[in-house]
Amino acid sequence: MFENRVPPEQDKILRLMGMFAADPRTDKVDLGVGVYRSPEGKTPVMAAVKTAEQWIWEAQETKGYVGLSGDPAFLDAMRGLILGDAVPAARVAACGTPGGTGAVRQVLEMSRRLSPDAAVWISDPTWPNHPAIIGHLAQKSATYRYYDRETGGIDRDGMLADLARAQAGDVILLHACCHNPTGADLTPDDWREIAAICQRTGAIPFVDMAYLGFAESLEADAEGTRHLAATLPEVFIAASCSKNFGLYRERAGVVLVVTAEGAPREVAFGTLANLNRQNYAFPPDHGARVVETILNDPILRDSWRDELRAMRETMQANRAALAEALRAEAGSDRFGHFAAHRGMFSLSGASPAQVDLLRETHGIYLVGDGRMNVAGLTPGTIPRVAKALAEVLA
Ligand SMILES: Cc1ncc(COP(=O)(O)O)c(C=O)c1O
Repeated sequence: MFENRVPPEQDKILRLMGMFAADPRTDKVDLGVGVYRSPEGKTPVMAAVKTAEQWIWEAQETKGYVGLSGDPAFLDAMRGLILGDAVPAARVAACGTPGGTGAVRQVLEMSRRLSPDAAVWISDPTWPNHPAIIGHLAQKSATYRYYDRETGGIDRDGMLADLARAQAGDVILLHACCHNPTGADLTPDDWREIAAICQRTGAIPFVDMAYLGFAESLEADAEGTRHLAATLPEVFIAASCSKNFGLYRERAGVVLVVTAEGAPREVAFGTLANLNRQNYAFPPDHGARVVETILNDPILRDSWRDELRAMRETMQANRAALAEALRAEAGSDRFGHFAAHRGMFSLSGASPAQVDLLRETHGIYLVGDGRMNVAGLTPGTIPRVAKALAEVLA
């Protein structure tokens, strides 16, 4: 079976992680892999997570199977966190998944099963795993303009013109906040326009929410998604708990499907549970239980919110400091978009050759498309990174 075959191309980011690990330079800087890092360069276990894990360890008496859709208390807590009271609970079908990637995969697989001819619209650019999963599922896809490389902001007119061409039943994949890889987010006005387009065309929005709480606040980051849920008959949401709960390896994620008023949500619920059954039977439980424990305890929830706020503020401070250092190095505002972007990522504007140069000459690791993880910066590395960027991108 394996003779005369070649292995599939390795994921770019995973390949970069391997190169970074093998680099002997002690002053190398990892701005590639998408994990949050504290000013000390750590990806910490959050205090609320530690406490919740201890409570679970003390109280849990069985590791028996949970339901196919996961722990109902987790699903309900995530529904509340994401949607608030934008839509009645009775209209939402929820399902636990292995992380946000699992949720993206299950939503796409559900839409392929129920609507095989629908196209999935993705932003240019987007998280590379979006087209990879769509390709794996052999789904139709289309691209909409999103990022304006000249301004470092959104090409709003281009985006709206492209999305207006979506057909009824097509799926429009949106990033809730902290757009990966650009860092350029939709404004409340953009969300309203997109909702109006979906209303006109009958296309279904699919929100990938991997960074809730990393941009402005838990509420503000969910506002666009809530607007869609409050105004449209159907909305798909794939949410990850990897970043905002620091639970990367535990694989906690959720699918929420807002179903049309009066339509049986059992179809969505049953399809998702059935897909879980076919793909891996039960979603992982530990991370989901940690999240549910935190969200349902007022003291732990406050502690988690505070820590999440501190993480967000660290990233914003890194952004401001990098933009400032680049202003001094370049003598212009050319890199001002670093401060305006939100979340962990920004497109630096470096070409693949410049990315190679930054890595080979300066030990600074970016993803090949020029994506930079600003959470990988520390006060100590910002001056050196700014100098190298200004030099290489001059
Ligand atoms: C846009 C986007 N969606 C989904 C995910 C999935 O994250 P995970 O599977 O680690 O929960 C990520 C993580 O990098 C992401 O950036």
